[in-house]
Amino acid sequence: MARTVWDSTVGKKTVMAVSGLVMLLYLVVHMIGNLKIFFGPGEFNHYAHWLRTVGEPFMHDEWTLWLIRAVLVVAVVAHAVSAYQLSRRDIRARPAKYVHRKPRASYATRTMRWGGIILALFIVWHLLDLTTGTVHSGGFQEGHPYQNVVDTFSTWYGDVVYIVAMLALGLHVRHGFWSAAQTLGAGSRTRDRALKAAADVLALLLTAGFIAVPVGVMTGVVS
Ligand code: HEM
Repeated sequence: MARTVWDSTVGKKTVMAVSGLVMLLYLVVHMIGNLKIFFGPGEFNHYAHWLRTVGEPFMHDEWTLWLIRAVLVVAVVAHAVSAYQLSRRDIRARPAKYVHRKPRASYATRTMRWGGIILALFIVWHLLDLTTGTVHSGGFQEGHPYQNVVDTFSTWYGDVVYIVAMLALGLHVRHGFWSAAQTLGAGSRTRDRALKAAADVLALLLTAGFIAVPVGVMTGVVS
């Protein structure tokens, strides 16, 4: 049964929609949490520490954090695998033999594919930058995310990488949210306008909220 659902195009689209919404929920929370940087190092670092101890005493130290990480890894892998398989299917289904010019995917499809690749690369960079410190500019300080974030956005390439990724994120979420709503059956003639507006507002808030952090550092509001 599960195999039949997974093998179907609708099944893969449903996996994409659900995993996308799970990641979106994480991003909304992450964006709001990041805004605490405007309240100074004490509050921001305290919040980062809380992320490690949340759920105690019921949960052991970092258990909740690892649970969230596990859910995110499953969501990212499911999203990427189904995206890849759907695009292979799409390419195979094209009647390429009958046309002279190479058929091109629609603007939205191409934006989603490129956006997905940019975001996947960004996530790897971001983890190596602010979680492990491997590619971090300056001395990475474990347990001091405020200073680490300020260091990252004090370099031109840090600003460029994050701002380009956040713009890609906005476009990806805008179309992705809309597609997910259609796949999960939320679309209808009366609701489509509201869904499109919700996708626009969500994408805009997410992008603006994330970009506020590098802009805050660049303008000296956060230092
Ligand atoms: C300006 C934008 C962003 C800033 C300033 C930022 C900041 C941070 C910081 C400081 C951490 C480390 C937290 C800690 O170890 O205490 C972190 C972790 C993380 N961020 Fe971001 N982030 C941004 C955007 C994003 C975006 C767009 C994504 C996803 C597409 C993302 C995904 C993650 C993930 C998955 C983690 C790892 C969480 C963990 O397992 O510990 N972040 N971020």
